[in-house]
Amino acid sequence: MPILKADTTPFDGQRPGTSGLREKVKIFQQPHYLENFVQSIFDTQQELAGGTLVVGGDGRYYNREAIQIILRMAAANGVAHAIVGQGGLLSTPAVSCVIRKYKTQGGIVLSASHNPGRPDEDFGIKFNTANGGPAPEAVTEAIYQRTTEISNYQTLEAADIDLDQTGQSQLGGMQIEIIDPVTDYAELMQRLFDFDGIRNLFKSNTFSMRFDAMHAITGPYATHILEDMLSAPSGTVINGKPLPDFGGGHPDPNLVHAHELVSMTQGHNGVDFAAASDGDGDRNMILGRDFFVTPSDSLAIIVANAHLIPGYQKHKIDGAARSMPTSQAVDRVANRLGIECFETPTGWKFFGNLLDAGRITFCGEESFGTGSNHVREKDGLWAVLFWLNLLAVKQQSVATIVQEHWREYGRNYYTRYDYEAVNKEAAADLMQHLRNKLDSLPGTQIQGHVIEYADDFSYTDPIDNSYSECQGVRIGFIGGSRIIYRLSGTGTEGATLRVYLEAFEPDPNKQQQTTANVMAPLVSIAQELAQITQKTGREQPTVIT
Ligand code: G1P
Ligand code: ZN
Repeated sequence: MPILKADTTPFDGQRPGTSGLREKVKIFQQPHYLENFVQSIFDTQQELAGGTLVVGGDGRYYNREAIQIILRMAAANGVAHAIVGQGGLLSTPAVSCVIRKYKTQGGIVLSASHNPGRPDEDFGIKFNTANGGPAPEAVTEAIYQRTTEISNYQTLEAADIDLDQTGQSQLGGMQIEIIDPVTDYAELMQRLFDFDGIRNLFKSNTFSMRFDAMHAITGPYATHILEDMLSAPSGTVINGKPLPDFGGGHPDPNLVHAHELVSMTQGHNGVDFAAASDGDGDRNMILGRDFFVTPSDSLAIIVANAHLIPGYQKHKIDGAARSMPTSQAVDRVANRLGIECFETPTGWKFFGNLLDAGRITFCGEESFGTGSNHVREKDGLWAVLFWLNLLAVKQQSVATIVQEHWREYGRNYYTRYDYEAVNKEAAADLMQHLRNKLDSLPGTQIQGHVIEYADDFSYTDPIDNSYSECQGVRIGFIGGSRIIYRLSGTGTEGATLRVYLEAFEPDPNKQQQTTANVMAPLVSIAQELAQITQKTGREQPTVIT
């Protein structure tokens, strides 16, 4: 099969953001756009030549086309072996699992995570390294630099591969293996959790659950693991068929976008436990009857209860990490357990080195992401299975487990305000304005609250000493409250301003208030400090989570 060398010219703006390169489908469909980025991966990651590459995506619109392009280019670039999920499907944590299990040289994930998918919506591509995790900044930067100077790419003239049959085939000099996307991942889950215990919980007939796959990638995973392996009644998984447009929805598991699921937990007939995952399967939302578990609390509870779960019982937990805007609930647990706790910039890639070095066992982000050292991505279904295992052991409701946790450690009230599609210049100006006054803020009072510290978060990786700056403005108040401002690195339209608010309440008698009430004073301070309305023209956020 002849290798074709196609001439091309660089595209602007192919720098990966918080999680890979994300753009509108229309941008990806331009001739050479995807090809330039993929060739830049092969040019900079030379161990892929002669090696094995995992390829899969969340099934969104353009997934199949992109996979065919990537496979032809991989073959032309000398990749020896490609492992591809059947139908082009692999969840993000499953890609990580497969890379690690088969010790491949890396993987390509096609997804724009929780962003909608349709011809006029979003697509994305991300490279994961041999540890199974998202490429660290040095790698994404090298790939980006290459995109700025690229002049040709290599591909094959060949027919499309049949992605729907498992088994082996050949494309030029490359062997392709189409695998069942669920098997390896399900096996890993079985090793971590007490499947017999969870099965008994489902058989007890006093326990009911719904899992909302949001017509995204976790449908087949959840159906197989929950309904087939764990004997959950059929119908436990809803919206379980992955669709290229996610059924027209927004596959983001939060109170706003998973409202169908939320309503199933409400009132007298509400289910005991409900959970959802996002487009590519790495996020999770955990709900009890009439109860929402914040992702920050979920992380803290996971760490506090790890000794009850088979996969984490054998030896002491190494440590924990959270992204900077994630609430400090897990810090209190780590402190009690006498383990290290790290505060990293936003984005899963910052956990990779800590996991590889054995410094942490668990990590998480406020953005509905939790995970452990079992893979190098956050993992939606893993978190759901962790909670199921915990419910099986404790035989308590979700609400009781969380409230007891608060009584023991204090409650970190938490909320996030997102202002989406804000004018880019206005958002940059708002951040600059905040940065300019950081030095003058400590010691001053605003609306009766005394500012203890104010900084722009920077991070030095303790393993490789790499340094990341400008990771978000932190304002800390005496008493433990915090306000954090940062601009999203995953949006594809204008800028998204995220404002994260946290207030600590140690008194058990004051832990049953509504988050909105507790946060009202901080919301008002956050407005005033950053002049959000004046600078963005927005009176209200687009989404509150
Ligand atoms: C968002 C989340 C971040 C997460 C990322 C990928 O990034 O805030 O925690 O790692 O999506 O799922 P952002 O848009 O804020 O840059
Ligand atoms: Zn995701």
